[in-house]
Amino acid sequence: MKVTVVGAGAVGATCADNIARKELATELVLLDIKEGLAEGKAQDMMQTATLLGFDTRITGSTNDYSKTAGSDVVVITSGLPRKPGMTREELIGTNAGIVKNVCENILKHSPNAIIIVISNPMDTMTYLALTATGLPKNRIIGMGGTLDSSRFKYQLSQHLNCSPSDLNAVVVGGHGDTTMIPLIRFATWNSVPVTNFLSEEQQKQIVADTMVGGATLTKLIGTSAWYAPGAAGAALVESIVRDEKKLFTCCVSLEGEYGQKDICLGVPVTIGRNGWEKIVDFKLNAEEQALFNKSADAVRSMNDVLKT
Ligand code: NAI
Repeated sequence: MKVTVVGAGAVGATCADNIARKELATELVLLDIKEGLAEGKAQDMMQTATLLGFDTRITGSTNDYSKTAGSDVVVITSGLPRKPGMTREELIGTNAGIVKNVCENILKHSPNAIIIVISNPMDTMTYLALTATGLPKNRIIGMGGTLDSSRFKYQLSQHLNCSPSDLNAVVVGGHGDTTMIPLIRFATWNSVPVTNFLSEEQQKQIVADTMVGGATLTKLIGTSAWYAPGAAGAALVESIVRDEKKLFTCCVSLEGEYGQKDICLGVPVTIGRNGWEKIVDFKLNAEEQALFNKSADAVRSMNDVLKT
């Protein structure tokens, strides 16, 4: 398996590090536009190989896409990250140009690749990748809900004083502070609904804290987070290359599912060797569906900016 990560910044390098440690690829290429950055980080990571005991061969490239040729999976993390006080939406102009250009270059050398989009605003960048490339919909996957669901489990674990790994919880909708929908009604702790253990007030707090999870970290760190985003990207790569068919919330093209079409939005999907394979219908109630529709409206108006 060959995997390319475009963007050797905080998220891209962390994602690559996870891919190497888990030996998800025999060959891993890190590519960045900034001279020397990807080569330097690739070398630094390779120098952990004997310490961590992995056999993935990592190489770096300054914008030379020929080195990415024949990639099975490509993760796109190139673009500007948020600064404190910024929304993900404010990144649209710059990142749209970058993501479109990266997709074109990637497909010249890896026409069969499955593309995972991480750059923000991720829902719009995923829609752009889909429409600009014309690839079959299953090969374009946006990573946002995977991260948000992990953050949701973290928030729940803090209130329940339990291991996040014992929790099942998903966030659907857009990957924005106001567009994501943590589905607390479906969240379980070892199969028991978490709502059995939490007051209404606690539930509201958990949902609110999950929604501003990214912004909270941006304020603390001074730029957007990378450990969990990088790990979330690698988890999707793992499910693809090992054909695990695990269920993750990913931003995918909807054609009537969840009542929406002509949009890419976060829904639970299985991820396997063909990319995203099956959308799982959680059967939202009226209140949840109304939130989902509102989220779709907000993402759609952001997508409209691409047309101007
Ligand atoms: P960063 O600034 O550390 O890294 C971005 C890298 O992209 C830089 O090294 C830059 O040189 C490179 N780059 C810029 N234009 C490029 C081009 N045309 N070709 C190749 N490389 C190029 O930023 P960070 O923190 O790694 O974030 C990356 C993106 O991921 C941002 O848009 C950020 O908002 C987004 N993000 C998305 C998350 C999600 O859940 N979807 C979570 C966290 C970040």
